[in-house]
Amino acid sequence: MKVIISKDYDELSKKAADFFEERFDKIKVLGLATGSTPIGLYKQLIKRVEDGKISFKDKYSVNLDEYIGLPIGHKESYREFMNDNLFNHVDIDIKNTNVPFAKDVDDISACEKYDSIIDGLGGVDVQVLGVGENGHIAFNEPDSELNYNTSIIKLTDSTINANSRFFDSYDDVPKYAISMGVGKIMEAKEIILLANGKKKADAIRSLLEGDKITCNSPVTLLKLHPNVTVFIDEELNNAL
Ligand code: F6R
Repeated sequence: MKVIISKDYDELSKKAADFFEERFDKIKVLGLATGSTPIGLYKQLIKRVEDGKISFKDKYSVNLDEYIGLPIGHKESYREFMNDNLFNHVDIDIKNTNVPFAKDVDDISACEKYDSIIDGLGGVDVQVLGVGENGHIAFNEPDSELNYNTSIIKLTDSTINANSRFFDSYDDVPKYAISMGVGKIMEAKEIILLANGKKKADAIRSLLEGDKITCNSPVTLLKLHPNVTVFIDEELNNAL
């Protein structure tokens, strides 16, 4: 596992964008994440499209997850997040972008459909990941067991609290989500994990220190993947 330490969030985002620029022509399917962490990377990718350095023409994307219960078009839905922070500003064909969507917590067919979309595209070439303070990747929350495939997840209090900053209150945060499973994430040919700030120290420590792999910190599964690059900032590195 490669670890790249940047002086701050801005540099981290630029280095992650450099990583993409170097191999962009070879990527067909991008695995994308939401949350605050990748916003700087997406800004950089938009700039590089504007500068003619990369193009999203003929690229496909699959996102990791989506809340359940938000109306279509809700500003905090992950589909809107992706449109606002990336897709509307680059030359991707919106029909080639995929964000999972489950109409309710019993919508198992939405999970199966999402996995067949990923398989039908030939899998993910490069997967972008953030990490939860509790070690979750996508919405695979710490638990006694984890799902290989896309599934419906009950969010933990830690995640609802962390994400309540985007909503008016804790009560407004959806309590369930549809999420790519850890197996599908691990099938990506290459993974980049971005994390900044000392709040992510426990999660990143569980990944970078020792050789334990545990469902209590799903990010530790990345120790089993042959091609992972971790981008962190100095604040986080100093807290390890
Ligand atoms: C988002 C996702 C989550 C976030 C994680 C960190 O698609 O899958 O796992 O990456 O919750 O969120 P931020 O970046 O907001 O700290």
